[in-house]
Amino acid sequence: ATNTSDVSTSPPPGTSKRAPQSIIIGVRKGGTRALLEMLDIHPEVAAAATEITIEKTPGYFTSPLAPERICAMNSSIKLLLILRDPTERVISDYTQVYFNRLENHKPVQAIENLLVRNGVLNMRYKAIQRSLYDVHMRNWLRHFPLEQIHIVDGDALIRDPLPELQKVENFLNLQPRIAPSNFYFNQTKGFYCIRSDGRERCLHESKGRPHPVVNNSVLHQLRAFLREHNRTFFRLVRRTFNWQ
Ligand code: A3P
Repeated sequence: ATNTSDVSTSPPPGTSKRAPQSIIIGVRKGGTRALLEMLDIHPEVAAAATEITIEKTPGYFTSPLAPERICAMNSSIKLLLILRDPTERVISDYTQVYFNRLENHKPVQAIENLLVRNGVLNMRYKAIQRSLYDVHMRNWLRHFPLEQIHIVDGDALIRDPLPELQKVENFLNLQPRIAPSNFYFNQTKGFYCIRSDGRERCLHESKGRPHPVVNNSVLHQLRAFLREHNRTFFRLVRRTFNWQ
């Protein structure tokens, strides 16, 4: 599914089709909705003639075909990738699927039963595969230079959104227009919400859901496994993150 912040219907003057100048390629559950909504605060990332268009498709990051196809479509497109601690991401992924299944009256399982089979980590579990950031990043770096992929620290965006957004403004060559007054902390939600154009809004209740408590030894097993992948990822992107 493609989600877009582009609410206008007419293409910009001199162009026949409004292609996005930037795409949030993922990662699923990384904070892609928050990033898109917060960038939307920016006057040039809105339905104005001068706007830049940003699309979000969280599934792209882990899609084997997306890098090649996007490169063929526009090899100079600026890519935004928001990542969070990959272990947290697995649990967030599980939580989303859990609630979707409940809604659709499908049976649900405890996260431990999906993560571990016969004592070993279940590598076929999609939520684990999607957290192998190094594996997916390699695929993108075959088609795009590292400089064209800006990584947003999703954990930092949760704690304090503005500095992460300022880095994105810079990456997209936008004037710095997003300000501290655009955010306020909502105690009830436990997350920052947005104040823009005289309106205040928080993200949908499906964003920022409480996570299940995962059995400690299973959690350690998952963390230990992801640690090596994280190290490889840090080398690939020449940057480290504070992941457990
Ligand atoms: P959780 O619901 O597991 O906490 P995505 O939009 O890619 O699906 O990411 C969802 C995640 O965005 C949420 O995962 C939440 O942690 C994170 N997030 C970041 N900033 C947020 C904000 N201001 N409000 C709500 N969720 C936010």
